[in-house]
Amino acid sequence: MTTPRPETLAKLTPVLTKRWLSPDAWRIGTYEQLDGYAALRKALKAHPDDLIQLIKDSGLRGRGGAGFPTGLKWGFIPQGDGKPHYLVVNADEGEPGTCKDLPLMTHDPHALVEGVIIASYAIRASRAYIYIRGEAVHAARRLRNAVQEAYAKGYLGRNILGTGYDLELVVHSGAGAYICGEETALLDSLEGFRGQPRLRPPFPATHGLYASPTVVNNVGTIASVPPIVLGGADWWKSMGTEKSSGPMIYSLSGRIVNPGQYECSMGITLRELLELAGGMQPGHNLRFWTPGGSSTPLLAAEHLDVPLDFEGVAGAGSILGTTATQIFSDQDCPVYATYRWLEFYHHESCGKCTPCREGNYWMVRVYRRILAGQGTHEDLDTLLDTCDNILGRSFCGLGDGATSSVTSSLKYFKQDYLDYIEGRTAPKLSDKQLVGAH
Ligand SMILES: Cc1cc2nc3c(=O)[nH]c(=O)nc-3n(C[C@H](O)[C@H](O)[C@H](O)COP(=O)(O)O)c2cc1C
Ligand code: SF4
Repeated sequence: MTTPRPETLAKLTPVLTKRWLSPDAWRIGTYEQLDGYAALRKALKAHPDDLIQLIKDSGLRGRGGAGFPTGLKWGFIPQGDGKPHYLVVNADEGEPGTCKDLPLMTHDPHALVEGVIIASYAIRASRAYIYIRGEAVHAARRLRNAVQEAYAKGYLGRNILGTGYDLELVVHSGAGAYICGEETALLDSLEGFRGQPRLRPPFPATHGLYASPTVVNNVGTIASVPPIVLGGADWWKSMGTEKSSGPMIYSLSGRIVNPGQYECSMGITLRELLELAGGMQPGHNLRFWTPGGSSTPLLAAEHLDVPLDFEGVAGAGSILGTTATQIFSDQDCPVYATYRWLEFYHHESCGKCTPCREGNYWMVRVYRRILAGQGTHEDLDTLLDTCDNILGRSFCGLGDGATSSVTSSLKYFKQDYLDYIEGRTAPKLSDKQLVGAH
């Protein structure tokens, strides 16, 4: 186990995670003692447009994967249109490896509730929803309890803190479908329909929930709002890089000594994160990793010093995504890992469009064949050709994301595929598991 150097420890910037270790951090009393709801009092004295400008000035970008500028998104909501406006928080957190929103809601649910109230006030919404993953029973319980506490204290409901502003907040549990994290599928699911992506345009900013102007933001995005209101845009920008401002919760898992959430300034490298996490487990050497969940192209050991911000990771040919950093070693097989992810995408494909529905079905079968020692060299071309027909031709990002580990593992680890095909690696799947593979 490595002990982090003081200069690496200094890279930890606990902002969203700063209360997580306080006893009873999820209770409103503790939250109020630790700056809680101070940002709301300040925000309610400001003009909503000034709050939108503040978020624009801070450079905050969405924490849900795509990194869209949050202030810009809020600014798209038409004003004076006479329609109800909605804020919908995306708390679905289904991306494999991602574990930042659920711990936030479990340990510090009021941070999200306070962010919801400020963001709703800024976009002039009087109703907000938090759409939480159905399996996340514990987090949902904490969140519902926090919402009740906030109502009891007058932070939610009618005439909030005597300002005349009204807001109702509903916590809605989904049914555990990855596609319901895609923002338009989420809106369909929230409306009571089967969760499938909608055609865009029109965009949620004008035709979102119940065909009304809607902002959909990730949990981490909304929980970033109170600290920005309290600390100011310049303070927020003092962390991170020029185009990727602020701190970010990196969730580290896999072959490391101390898996968990590490909140650091954006632009930290995997080398530094590994140092914070105690290094690789004894006997393991880094071989491949995901910078932002399984929908982002794999990176290899040569990318240890890539800055983990939106631009740095894109420059290395991948995507920052959800900053779910999954670490694999020389004892893990990139072909098998990719197969397991593909099984997930195949299972979670909503079936609306042909490239994703059929492409993932067939790729799973090709992988089973390769892993059972019955693959051919042509299979590798078939995989690349299938990815070519899924990427950019699917109806939503699920299809695109499914191709990431296939193309990147073939780029960096083609020899591993050849070793199965040419008989140098023992088959990992039996003939029995091959059923339906041909
Ligand atoms: C298949 C799929 C699953 C997604 N799952 C999530 C999710 O669980 N949580 C999330 O915040 N965003 C998820 N997204 C991204 C959302 O569509 C959307 O970009 C995000 O909620 C916007 O919030 P932000 O601007 O605050 O990042 C997903 C996208 C796709 C294509
Ligand atoms: S890409 Fe996949 S999940 Fe998205 S709409 Fe098409 S079938 Fe559904």
